[in-house]
Amino acid sequence: MSDTPRGALTLRTLAMPADVNVNGDIFGGWVLSQMDIAAGIIAGERAQGRVATVAIDAMKFIRPVKVGDVLCIYADVERVGRTSMGIWLEAWVLRGRIGAREKVTEATFTFVAIDDEGRPRPVPDPTTRMA
Ligand SMILES: CC(C)(COP(=O)(O)OP(=O)(O)OC[C@H]1O[C@@H](n2cnc3c(N)ncnc32)[C@H](O)[C@@H]1OP(=O)(O)O)[C@@H](O)C(=O)NCCC(=O)NCCS
Repeated sequence: MSDTPRGALTLRTLAMPADVNVNGDIFGGWVLSQMDIAAGIIAGERAQGRVATVAIDAMKFIRPVKVGDVLCIYADVERVGRTSMGIWLEAWVLRGRIGAREKVTEATFTFVAIDDEGRPRPVPDPTTRMA
């Protein structure tokens, strides 16, 4: 496994005691939610506006996240369709804030660019800047 994260560092946060599961590790749903937020930031930038998550594929929980870890989410636009975008996500931790860096989770999220009524709209050309 590569020891270099793929994508842009898009979100950093601290795993807190309120987010643990019954094993005492961080709840997978919390990690997924941070990845969804990071993917939404990247997809919204690429689509220059509103986006919605339509699918999450190949979600892999590789290592547990512990209380006190710094969670770093890396994101990369790997595919642009007509109205949809595939966003590659990797979550890495710094153990106990300053310790070793480890990849904990990866997935592909699919986002759709939507208009004010929530209907799919074309993803604009990257060279077009919208108001
Ligand atoms: C996003 C949404 C507007 C798309 O509507 P839709 O009727 O499925 O739209 P379409 O069938 O035209 O598909 C739009 C694009 O999404 C893609 N898509 C739709 N469902 C998909 C799926 N399950 N997996 C991957 N791509 C999918 C289509 O291939 C299409 O891509 P393209 O334009 O690049 O070719 C609608 O599904 C929706 O509102 N979903 C809920 C979103 C939401 O609330 N997310 C938060 C979860 S709590």
